[in-house]
Formats: sequence, C-alpha cells, structure tokens
Amino acid sequence: MRIAVVGTGYVGLVTGTCLAETGNEVVCVDINEKKVEMMKAGKLPIYEPGLEQLFHRNIAQDRLKFTSNLAEGIQDAKIIFLALPTPPGGDGAADLSYVLGAAGDIAKLLTDYKVIVTKSTVPVGTADKVTAVMQQHAAPGIEYAVVSNPEFLREGVAVEDFMKPDRVVVGTTDERARKLMAELYGPYVRQGNPVIFMDERSSELTKYAANSFLATKISFMNEIANLCELVGADVDMVRRGIGADDRIGKRFLFAGIGYGGSCFPKDVQALAKSAEENRYDFKILNSVMEVNEIQKTVLTEKVKKYFKGDLAGKHFALWGLAFKPETDDIREAPALYIIDALIEAGATVSAFDPEGMANVKAMLGDKITYAENQYDVLKDADALLIVTEWSLFRTPDFDKVESLLKAKVIFDGRNLYDLDKMVDCGFYYNSIGRKE
Ligand code: UGA
Repeated sequence: MRIAVVGTGYVGLVTGTCLAETGNEVVCVDINEKKVEMMKAGKLPIYEPGLEQLFHRNIAQDRLKFTSNLAEGIQDAKIIFLALPTPPGGDGAADLSYVLGAAGDIAKLLTDYKVIVTKSTVPVGTADKVTAVMQQHAAPGIEYAVVSNPEFLREGVAVEDFMKPDRVVVGTTDERARKLMAELYGPYVRQGNPVIFMDERSSELTKYAANSFLATKISFMNEIANLCELVGADVDMVRRGIGADDRIGKRFLFAGIGYGGSCFPKDVQALAKSAEENRYDFKILNSVMEVNEIQKTVLTEKVKKYFKGDLAGKHFALWGLAFKPETDDIREAPALYIIDALIEAGATVSAFDPEGMANVKAMLGDKITYAENQYDVLKDADALLIVTEWSLFRTPDFDKVESLLKAKVIFDGRNLYDLDKMVDCGFYYNSIGRKE
C-alpha cells in the first residue's frame, strides 16, 4: 500500500520505517529541508535501537522515501499519517496548530478518497476538529475519513513495539477506512493480538488513559517507596509481592526518581486539563503530578541530608542523563532537576551517559563537565549518583569505583544493587524505598 507520513520526528520515523518493512511504499514528508536531505543521504536523525538497520534496508529497496514537498509526498497515498508535534500550550492543553495546519494543507491537495490518520497524541475531539478544517479546505465532493490511531511505542524498544504490538487501537466509524486500516495492520498482529476498532473519541481518550494509568502506577510505587523508608520496609520486596498478582501485573512498578520523557509528564497534564475544561475534577491525576514533582527531588534531598545540608564545594559524579536507558532523550529527564539542585546548592557536577551527553551539552554547555566513560567521571567525586539505569551501570567494577571516588558513597535513584552486596563492599549506599 502507498502511505505518506507527515512529520519525521520520533513517532513519524519509526512509523514510516516500520510500515515500509512489511512491503508498503512509504513517503515521509517534513518541512525541514535540511533534515530531508540528511535522511535521503541515509542518515537517521534520532537514536533508536534497531531502527537504523530497517531504515537503511528500506531506503535501499526504494520502499522508504523522503520529501519536503507535501503534494509529492501524498500523491497516490491511500493513507496519510499525521505524526506532528503537539507540544503543551501555555495553559497545559495540547497545541494543535501543527496538526490542524497540515490537515488544511492536505485537504487543499485532495483529489480522491484518502484516510487521514492522527498518530500524534491529541486531545479528545481532535478528529472532529481535523474533519472541520478539512471540510473548510477540500474541494466540494471530495471524500476522506479522519481516523484516530494512537501510538503506544516506548522509546528504546519502539521498533519491537511497532512490529509486534500488544494491540492496535483504531478510532473510526468509516467502513472504508476500517477496511484499509485492518489491511495495513494485518501483518503486525499475526500472533493474534487485536486491532481494536472503536469510535474516534474513545480512541483518542484511550491513549491518554493508558499513559496516565502507567504514570499513576509509578507515582503510587514512589509513594510506597517513601513510606517503606519510614517504616523500615523494602520497596523491592513489596513490588514483587504485589506484582505476582495478575490483576496488578509485574511491570511498571519500579520506584525511582520520578517519571520523565516527552510523554508521561505532557499527557498526564493534558488529560487533567481536558478534564478541567469539561468541569471534571480528576483528583487522582493532580496527585500523580504532585507526587512526581516531589519525587524528582528525593535523591538530592538524600544527598543534602548526608552532607548535613552543606554541599558548597562538593563534587558529584552522575551516572546517566537520559530520562531512561537506550535513548538519548533528555526531555523532562530527572537528571536535569538533580543537576540544577546540586549546582544551586554550591556543588559541581560531572556526568557520563552513553547516549545523552550531546543533548545535555547543547542545553547546559559547560555548567557541568562530561566524562569519556563511566569510570573517568568518578575521579575526585564526593559521591556517585545513579540517575539512569543503563545496563553498563548494573555490574560495575566496585574496586575501581572505590579507588576513584573520594569517599565510598553511592546514592542510587534506580535501585540497581543488592543491599547485602553493598554492605560487603563497604559502601555507604542509599537507594529508593530500601534500607540505608
Ligand atoms: C511511554 C509509554 O510507555 C508508551 O506506551 C507510549 O507510547 C509513550 O510513552 C508515548 O506516549 O509516546 P516512554 O515515554 O518512551 O513511553 O517511556 P517509558 O518506558 O514508559 O518510561 C517513562 C518514564 O517512567 C521514565 O522516566 C521511566 O524511568 C519511568 N518509569 C517507568 C518508572 O519510574 N518506573 C517504572 O516502573 C517504569
């Protein structure tokens, strides 16, 4: 099938590349000509494990193309995906100007029936708004369907999530669109996972409900962790104890230093805002956000307590900057809050992250120093802070760590190490929701 994907950000590129992988002919459209030229030259603008190989293979086989010309991109396409940014506006609600702008431009170019799919995370009612804009700009008599098809990709495992989704959610009441979407996703759900069809509004809400529920799980566990510390319990034990119940599930129960990234913070806020606009007080969501803000300060509060409130002249080493492993994404990364708090308190910071350093450098410049590897960063540090749970931090050479740090002190925001082992190694080890 011929597909167009408008917007080559993270979602657009993963979607376009993975759709090409099953034999579709995909044209990715972006207004940024420099980016288009770069991709045409075979350079992938984002880091995502497994994507590069698919990207190159499909370009080589002529199934994945790029253009900055919208008319050229959507010509002959049966389905047009809108994968455009929906940043939070000043009031916290998602800003739809990119999505609606593109919809208007596409409408002007339509000559035959096409399915327009909103892939971006958009508030309930957006399909209706897109339809209204299209009606305004499309030539009379032209038929089209506006479909909601939210993405549930996780950064770091996005290719796997796209190729083998737990489920695909499609919001449409248009029979022709339903058939085309079922045909498109058929190869991805061969193991029997469902393509769940519903109306547009339910589909739009499903996306926010999913992310907000997951964020709620995390904030809940973070509160349990804080309580564990007060009552002398261990959050890892509690996690295993409750996670064994199928109704609760093992996943997404890890306490830490707050959720970050480009999705959870934005989506929880947008759902709360949308509830407010509909005069509904979504109490849980407000607490989820409040807990998350507090959780981002937990690690530095532990550091301050250990150093009796005086961090002036102290130097700290950070393992991890990205908001989670296997990504270079630092949007809403807890590391940024931790760095700010340490510097504010008069300390200096040195960091190492396998993928996230270039982005932090672009944002913070020489506010902190950057190390070549996970050991160099430790030199002369008063303590090590573990911020992102990259695999290479899980089994370090503790003798080397000890020899480089000024003192044997580790604050672990991701609970990477066994408590007994740390006692054996003689470290002062303070993690989340476990004994000191
Ligand atoms: C999230 C969702 O998991 C995807 O399903 C969704 O498609 C995506 O948002 C989106 O809306 O685009 P992502 O932001 O890539 O994916 O990252 P997650 O793996 O979900 O992690 C989010 C945050 O939660 C991270 O900061 C992570 O450290 C934190 N987290 C996650 C915890 O603190 N504890 C956990 O148990 C799990």
